[in-house]
Amino acid sequence: MSTATGFVGLGLMGEPMARNLVRAGFPLTVYNRTRDKSAQLEADGASVGASLREVGERSEVVVLMVSDDAAVADVLFGADGVVSGLAEGGVIVDMSTTSTEAMEETGRRLGEHGIALVDAPVFGSTEPAATGELWAVVGAEPGDLERVRPTLEAMCGRIFALGPVGAGSSMKVAGNLIVTGMLTLLAESLSMGERRGLDRAQMLEVVAAIDFASPLYTAKGTQVIDGDFAPRFPLKHALKDSRLAAAAGRSLGLQLRTVDGVVRDFEAAAEAGHRAQLES
Ligand SMILES: NC(=O)c1ccc[n+]([C@@H]2O[C@H](COP(=O)([O-])OP(=O)(O)OC[C@H]3O[C@@H](n4cnc5c(N)ncnc54)[C@H](OP(=O)(O)O)[C@@H]3O)[C@@H](O)[C@H]2O)c1
Repeated sequence: MSTATGFVGLGLMGEPMARNLVRAGFPLTVYNRTRDKSAQLEADGASVGASLREVGERSEVVVLMVSDDAAVADVLFGADGVVSGLAEGGVIVDMSTTSTEAMEETGRRLGEHGIALVDAPVFGSTEPAATGELWAVVGAEPGDLERVRPTLEAMCGRIFALGPVGAGSSMKVAGNLIVTGMLTLLAESLSMGERRGLDRAQMLEVVAAIDFASPLYTAKGTQVIDGDFAPRFPLKHALKDSRLAAAAGRSLGLQLRTVDGVVRDFEAAAEAGHRAQLES
């Protein structure tokens, strides 16, 4: 665990993920655009980089957990970005959820600097992020993945190696198509049952006992019953991810009618007053 490591993006997911790297003993330099979000990790033993360039200069491996394609490009290639500081031979581990096309382009651009990319988005929300039990879906050259396997193992319970750079993001977008569809159907099902006079908790008990049971339904359904609507997977990311799936479908010549409906539902949720969750 002696690899000098950087971590950029201390949001809902990144902060607990970075904390697991500190706990595992990695010498860690963290950075967040909004600087005060670094304070707790500094108290926990991380160093705080003065700039993205400094994070690059102090690291062999830099993990990213930022919002989207544009944020990754800013962080890496913007003025004084990570790439301006990271030496040849370094590795970027991008765990953000982005499009496959952007991930592949990032890999090409990093390659021009002699820097490797490990495409490693994750499934699991804030709770598995805190317990180090995320599921990583990885696209990388096998040797690059082996170099950062201990880094990933400090944050993830399971690592799936799926192919070259782009394969991780393709799996993540395809997987979130299922997740966002399931969340939408659960909401519709609970609403319908309630209108019919059913009790939500009893509905969930039935759902949990039948062959379409899912830990996702149990976890999210319980939060709904408890009135616990604290953002874990913010609407802005659910909308981004369903739009990524819809765009991927179009570019691949597929008609993904369900995901088109999910996009419309999340757009309606934003219009209905959940806009705060759309701000980055
Ligand atoms: N939440 C989940 O359940 C979940 C699960 C799996 C994967 N993901 C994915 O993981 C990523 C992070 O999710 P999150 O829930 O942690 O999101 P979040 O709480 O919104 O955090 C986003 C992070 O990205 C940073 N950022 C955004 N734009 C930036 C820019 N242009 N330059 C520099 N930094 C920028 C933010 O910095 P500021 O603090 O300055 O805004 C913040 O640190 C997203 O791609 C999301 O889709 C989320």
